[in-house]
Amino acid sequence: MREGRFSAAESEIAQRYSESVSFDRRLYRHDIAGSIAYASALASAGILSADEFEMIARGLREIENQITAGTFVWDASLEDVHMNIEAALTKRIGLAGAKLHTGRSRNDQIALDLRLFTRDEIDQIVARLRALQDALLLLAQKYSEVLMPGYTHLQRAQPTYFAHYLLAQLEALERDHERLRDTRRRADVMPLGSGALAGSTIALDREGIAKVLGFQRVTQNSIDAVSDRDFVGDFLYSLAMIGIHLSRFSEDLIIWSTSEFGFIEFSDAFATGSSLMPQKKNPDMAELTRGKCGRLIGNLVSLLTILKGLPSSYNRDLQEDKEALFDSVDTVRSALELFSAMLPELTINRERMESLANDPQLLATDLAEYLVGKGVSFREAHTIVGKLAASGKQLDALSNDEFRAASNAFEEDVREVFDVRKALQRRTATGSPSPENIERQIARWRELLEPE
Ligand code: ARG
Repeated sequence: MREGRFSAAESEIAQRYSESVSFDRRLYRHDIAGSIAYASALASAGILSADEFEMIARGLREIENQITAGTFVWDASLEDVHMNIEAALTKRIGLAGAKLHTGRSRNDQIALDLRLFTRDEIDQIVARLRALQDALLLLAQKYSEVLMPGYTHLQRAQPTYFAHYLLAQLEALERDHERLRDTRRRADVMPLGSGALAGSTIALDREGIAKVLGFQRVTQNSIDAVSDRDFVGDFLYSLAMIGIHLSRFSEDLIIWSTSEFGFIEFSDAFATGSSLMPQKKNPDMAELTRGKCGRLIGNLVSLLTILKGLPSSYNRDLQEDKEALFDSVDTVRSALELFSAMLPELTINRERMESLANDPQLLATDLAEYLVGKGVSFREAHTIVGKLAASGKQLDALSNDEFRAASNAFEEDVREVFDVRKALQRRTATGSPSPENIERQIARWRELLEPE
């Protein structure tokens, strides 16, 4: 590539600083698929003969096999995956290989590779998201009747079902799924033919290339096509959001596994010991997931910061998008796999959860709503019950006289408020945890997650 314009070789320091083949080799399958599709368009345009196209396609497939087998020799002095493959092809088949890059730039080539990569990886991650949702749904079905205290501000707040909590995680992951689908749609646009930034004088059937590579659309502006990394940003954001959801979930599990809470226990296979304290069982898998969220957010911020500084069109800064992208993909993939394997092995301490869920203080709001049913305004009821709760006595231990002293709206039937399962039965609005609603939600998810 330097033979024409340059008389001196690139400094070794500059070479080492700028090479990307050490990481972008990961794109080889996409790079080769793109080159074969591009070569077929060159053939249709009369730039390549049918024979030349055959030689290129065969040569590229052989190179792909070599890379997959680990026998391909990468050369950092050839800078990136694109030039390594092109040089190997030309070495193999001569002149025809040297024609492949007609009308193409590495600027539209890398844009294509990244889009193909993003599409594939989204499909992989969606499958893993689905697997985790399946695992959550199974748990919700298995423990559909287990009560648990619900928290706000990490203070015990109101009773609910453990299944209600699990279904909440399913909801969040479903939004992640939607984001990924949306990101895939944005990535699904074919940029080849944009050249360096202004297309080329070689008229190519871009729609034909898109069809071969399974793209829904082609890019409509060649400057935008080589500049655009929005889809990488969308993807990194979607992945960071999955990380944030898993971090929150991890945090819940970590707290619940303490002896102070004692709600759950991690299986031995997914817990670690202490090198010092023989009695300890640590929730390291959940802690690592919480911690790895840091790099997911970091990778997103890294990309946004790169893009922020750029003028339009291709700039070499864009090479810095890849490691962030690869790292986030790998991190989320492994975290999803881990959670799907770890969840079915959790031990749920039903007695402990239910004994705390049965705390009558958690029904203070229900008690205020009872007064509302007797005609008291909610604000007044809130004050009355607040005073009773501050009395230091358990609410269900108050005598009829004590209730009466607080408000003469209280009647004999106030005792019924303190049956926690009945209290949950009364929560019938969509989204609330009545047992019927939970059953309905489980059925809804079963249908939704059914493989098509
Ligand atoms: N390695 C480059 C990247 O990742 C490929 C495109 C290089 N283009 C160029 N004009 N130097 O962005």
